[in-house]
Amino acid sequence: MKKRLHFVITAGPTREFLDPVRFLSNPSTGKMGFAVARAAARAGHDVTFVAGPVALKTPRDVKRVDVVSAREMFAAVKEAVTPGCVFVATAAVADWRPAVCAGKKLKKTEMSNVIKLVRNPDILKSIEGCVKIGFAAETNDVLEEAQRKCREKNLAMIVANDVTEKGAGFGSDTNRVVFVYPDGRKEPLKKMSKLAVAGRIVRACENICS
Ligand code: C5P
Repeated sequence: MKKRLHFVITAGPTREFLDPVRFLSNPSTGKMGFAVARAAARAGHDVTFVAGPVALKTPRDVKRVDVVSAREMFAAVKEAVTPGCVFVATAAVADWRPAVCAGKKLKKTEMSNVIKLVRNPDILKSIEGCVKIGFAAETNDVLEEAQRKCREKNLAMIVANDVTEKGAGFGSDTNRVVFVYPDGRKEPLKKMSKLAVAGRIVRACENICS
């Protein structure tokens, strides 16, 4: 019988506020993460889904936790992970946040043309005790970058994709990815729907955990 796994999945962008009405973010729609959550739940696994601000319906049989900033996402992931769980990080976490968030809307005259930024925590790198799967959305040297991140973040696998390619990456319903393993093994998949890619990711996780 197939082993029932606990998946913790992050998805979507994060927002890093400068004041109550302005933030830094990115164009992630969360589609890939939602697809992985749906595929994992359909395969009979327990799923905790940590979502940044996205406009997508929660898949069936998935426990969802909504967050806004990278630091909130980090706290929610630390709370959600269990020993030996599978952590799939699809979120496009903002690497930087404004050093200060003003308590009230800044007036144009109060704003400087320089914003001081500080680094956000690397959620995927920091989590320990789980089987970790990462995503590498790259514009150049895709496989080399993916391999480097796989080793640096101590991942069981990384899903590499070239976001400059048509029909792959941000907002698209399809994706063309390569699974990259820490030993250098590479498994290229043909272009397929994000749900089909998600199914392959869940199967790869089941193999890794078997
Ligand atoms: O280093 P880079 O941002 O390209 O790494 C991508 C992988 O790391 C993705 O799986 C992403 O979800 C995760 N990540 C994270 N926390 C960050 C930055 C990236 O979990 N602060």
